[in-house]
Amino acid sequence: MRIKYTISIIFFVALVIIEKENNIISRMSDKLTLKQTPQTPLQPSGLSHMLLKHNGSFTSLGKRNSAFTLMKRRLEDYSQHQEVVTTGRKHILLLATTRTGSSFVGEFFNQQGDNMFYLFEPLWHVEKMLTLETGGTNATAAVKAYRDVLQQLLLCDFSLLESFIDPLPVDHITPALFRRESSSSLCEESVCSPFIKGAFERYHCRTRRCGPLNFTMASESCLQKEHRAIKSVRVRQLENLRPLAEDPRLDVKFIQLVRDPRAVLASRMVAFAAKYKNWKQWAMDGDVPIDDGEVRKLKGNCDNIRMSAEIGLRQPPWLRRRYMLVRYEDIARFPMRKATEMYRFAGIPFTPQVKSWILKNTQASKEASGVYSTQKKSSEQVEKWRFTLPFKVAQVVQKVCGPTLKLFGYKFVSSEEMLTDKSISLIEDKVFNFS
Ligand SMILES: *[C@@H]1O[C@H](CO)[C@@H](O)[C@H](O)[C@H]1NC(C)=O
Ligand SMILES: *[C@@H]1O[C@H](CO)[C@@H](O)[C@H](O)[C@H]1NC(C)=O
Ligand SMILES: *[C@@H]1O[C@H](CO)[C@@H](O)[C@H](O)[C@H]1NC(C)=O
Repeated sequence: MRIKYTISIIFFVALVIIEKENNIISRMSDKLTLKQTPQTPLQPSGLSHMLLKHNGSFTSLGKRNSAFTLMKRRLEDYSQHQEVVTTGRKHILLLATTRTGSSFVGEFFNQQGDNMFYLFEPLWHVEKMLTLETGGTNATAAVKAYRDVLQQLLLCDFSLLESFIDPLPVDHITPALFRRESSSSLCEESVCSPFIKGAFERYHCRTRRCGPLNFTMASESCLQKEHRAIKSVRVRQLENLRPLAEDPRLDVKFIQLVRDPRAVLASRMVAFAAKYKNWKQWAMDGDVPIDDGEVRKLKGNCDNIRMSAEIGLRQPPWLRRRYMLVRYEDIARFPMRKATEMYRFAGIPFTPQVKSWILKNTQASKEASGVYSTQKKSSEQVEKWRFTLPFKVAQVVQKVCGPTLKLFGYKFVSSEEMLTDKSISLIEDKVFNFS
């Protein structure tokens, strides 16, 4: 009994000490912040001076992981982005996997207008940098890097992302940000530096002629925006992002976008033909080796998606009012309704710009009037895979992704006839609990 008490007390005291340390560090950085106007880099004085003296050891260490670098970064964070949790500012993370329509759904936020800072797949650079010679990604390193980069970006801090861009940006300027043009925030007037004749930019703005991306300008613009949204297909487990949900500077809303794994596989076999050539061969042979690494990978993907959704739907305290599950099939059939729901969930006004973009780019105008032909057309698009994916392959997906299909309400097919019978819908009406 006594030992128990002692242990509790020691534990409590330790907690208090840790808490105190934290306070000291934040106060120190607050002080630093006070001396600086926001967004100006630290001048070589005080702590930062001390840090600069270690410049040599930084560079020789080379790796981005040293605790010192992190601490320096933290201090810079505080000084540059002394963001108070402003009431009403929302941070949306649209999480998906490839071929689930996430670019399209991302547009719902990209088109929001002047109040939104939207980023399209910033983690592309991180994944690329962490790709091993074997072709896989260093999962341990990726989990941490994805989380930290996302967290910084939601605070309008690009410094960690910059460190993953190859070649490294010079003076916070890069001509190589992946798909810059897919994020209207990065092609706005205020983020558009003067066009440089002859400079090659693979990803350049389409709406106006801009020079290479200046991250300082991007950060300044981001800080002015009321809301921020990032879409990513690279986060494997929702739980890895828990620190973001618990960050008092953020009000994060996770939207997980899912799609029938059979449709995803069919789509990937077309889009990433080289990577999926085994599947294509199996589809032709009508025989899938169930213990193959490719099949295990498919199972792993399905399990990750399902486990993320299970946590989200269970609504643990850290996710309360922060998680929404959306099926691609519902968005394809009822885009306006689902977009409205997403905005309501995010707590952001649904703007006329978004509405008109959806009207222009979907069949939504007929959605409300329930015109049968358009509804039918949309579902045809959604169910096209049923005529390209061989039944044998569908069976394998059902086998290894069974629990995932079940959770999201995708019906199993038991025969080739059922697979290709258009009169049978494979999408159950399902309302997911979220609030
Ligand atoms: C830091 O180190 C780099 C490379 O060694 C050098 O070019 C740079 O001038 C140094 N900066 C400072 C402030 O010492
Ligand atoms: C993966 O990253 C971790 C953490 O950064 C590192 O310790 C490990 O050596 C890396 N593994 C490989 C295979 O590169
Ligand atoms: C990048 O933008 C910042 C902020 O507007 C500006 O001070 C800086 O000079 C720009 N850099 C270049 C090389 O134009």
